[in-house]
Amino acid sequence: MRYFYVLITLFIFCISSSFETNVDSKMVLKKPRVSPRDGAEPHVLLETRNRTSTPKHGKSSIAEDLTQFIQDISVDERDLNDFYSISISPTRLRRLGEYYTERQNELVTVFRSSWDELGVDGEVDWLLIRGYLKRQQDSLRSIWVQLKDLEPVLKSWAPPLVELCEQREEVIRFEAKDAAQALSDSGRAVDALASSIRAGDLKSTVSEFAAYRAVSAVEELQSHLTEWYGFYATYDPMFDWWVKQEWQQFPSKLSELVAAINEHLVGIKPGEDDAIVGQPVGRDGILADLQAEIIPYSPEELIKIGETEYDWCEKEMIKASQDLGYGKDWLKALEYVKTLHVEPGEQIYLVHELANEAVEYVTKHDMVTIPRIANETWRTTMMSPAAQKVNPFFLGGTLIQVSYPTNSMSYSDKMMIMRGNNRYFSRSTVFHEMNPGHHLQYYYISRYKTYRGMFTTPFWIEGNAFYWEMILWDRGFAATPEEKIGMLFWRMHRALRIIFSLKFHLNLMTPQECIDMLVEKGGHERATAEGEVRRSFNGDYSPLYQAGYMLGALQFYALRKEIVGRGSMTERAFHDAILKQNQMPIEMLRALLKGEHLNWDHKPSWKFYDGSHKDTKSHRG
Ligand SMILES: *[C@@H]1O[C@H](CO)[C@@H](O)[C@H](O)[C@H]1NC(C)=O
Ligand SMILES: *[C@@H]1O[C@H](CO)[C@@H](O)[C@H](O)[C@H]1NC(C)=O
Repeated sequence: MRYFYVLITLFIFCISSSFETNVDSKMVLKKPRVSPRDGAEPHVLLETRNRTSTPKHGKSSIAEDLTQFIQDISVDERDLNDFYSISISPTRLRRLGEYYTERQNELVTVFRSSWDELGVDGEVDWLLIRGYLKRQQDSLRSIWVQLKDLEPVLKSWAPPLVELCEQREEVIRFEAKDAAQALSDSGRAVDALASSIRAGDLKSTVSEFAAYRAVSAVEELQSHLTEWYGFYATYDPMFDWWVKQEWQQFPSKLSELVAAINEHLVGIKPGEDDAIVGQPVGRDGILADLQAEIIPYSPEELIKIGETEYDWCEKEMIKASQDLGYGKDWLKALEYVKTLHVEPGEQIYLVHELANEAVEYVTKHDMVTIPRIANETWRTTMMSPAAQKVNPFFLGGTLIQVSYPTNSMSYSDKMMIMRGNNRYFSRSTVFHEMNPGHHLQYYYISRYKTYRGMFTTPFWIEGNAFYWEMILWDRGFAATPEEKIGMLFWRMHRALRIIFSLKFHLNLMTPQECIDMLVEKGGHERATAEGEVRRSFNGDYSPLYQAGYMLGALQFYALRKEIVGRGSMTERAFHDAILKQNQMPIEMLRALLKGEHLNWDHKPSWKFYDGSHKDTKSHRG
């Protein structure tokens, strides 16, 4: 992960990105709450272990201690991130680094030495938390490196202000006069910096992407300063006397600086949409992320998989297109399917109809357990017109936010939104978002093995939701050509995501080429293709996020063959077990479900892809 603001909010990012909702947006999944054990210091863990050495409920006490160790880390991290909240602060980076180092040492000294007592569950947990801590440490290291890139834009004025905010957090006494001087000096430095940026001075030293990240850093600092000022102002008479005057001009100086950076370094003219700014992480960056996701394939091999899958989709698309009388020109058939939308005002009922259809289907075929509350309590809301500009498709997760045109929209926006939310596209997205997709995941992961919530990965979250699209297809959930085209549209899209996101990060495609590919090979509207590419690279998503949908699904698909296909579990037991283990890279889930012991130096080894597809013809019904 190289993106700055992915990095600076690593912990938050992991949680908030958990549920991408539709192709086009995502929604925050709240991290399941775990209650911190009082005084859970490392030495306490050791003592507890001595006292309770008899295994309870089949889990050794060392494995239970490890569960607690992981749970403690998730809460410690939250506390540390709340307290050391300034993302560009060296104090923060040092404190987190120290924390992760301590935990890593403990993991080795306390838990690895008891490897034989851990059991498969404990082994998986050990490997997961080891990978997690390593990834956090690596990310801190890259933030240090990236702070260097931001220095030209921050060094001359920001450090004394960061210090003021940190003193406020620790409630350390300071002289109001010194604070006034710091603001005054920084204000002059900000003005000077803004004019030199306007004069074009920094153009050659600051990359577009660094400038883009600098804007977030400045805005973040501005909000910390506002909080800082409000903490003292009017409560401390000397503070008011010295600082008020200096403060009054300060926020507008920062806004000027942001405007200058945006216009002259990022290249966004005032009033324009966000430019598509991204920085390829390069081959090594992708390889490091693949290692973390426990995927034993090279980026090139994964692109090949994406291409093979795309070709399969295109063949199936052509069959469906021929059935509708459009011959090989499947894009025309797709255009026709887009016209099959409901009238204004009707979409909420369609969404409910489709949601119930999917639940009935998976229940009838005994595919997964959908508890009554999971089927009963999902709520429906309407998306605001402003939000629909960014998310033309509906959003889901815990509730479903329906995207459909309002009277205030232009004719072309109305048509675009209705076409994009036609019945057959919606049919897959409703169950992807709700049951048996994200809503059902959310139901289980907030109740089972919640401490594993920190191991969230798109390969599990998105992979599992998209996997349902694959196995429902195999079962014949899409019977008519229109239904097939609806499902294939998304499937092609997931295949294209593997290709365009990896090629971008390998420096093989530009953002513009990615947009063109989505339009020409995926049948997207240009506006939605642009939105997708912008989000993919602006730092909202980790480099493998977009590839995670289909690759994760292919892993689940292969695992199903191994376990259900060989009769070791019923389909329903298999799907329930996945949900009850909570999130993790799929190779780890595989070890758990197969009960296979792992070594502490486990390397990615599972070659899950064999390119096979089920013949759909024999599975109608
Ligand atoms: C408790 O465990 C620690 C570390 O495993 C060991 O050093 C210590 O002697 C043990 N104490 C007792 C009372 O067994
Ligand atoms: C799910 O909820 C719908 C609507 O409330 C209901 O009609 C349906 O029978 C429920 N299905 C299951 C399997 O619980």
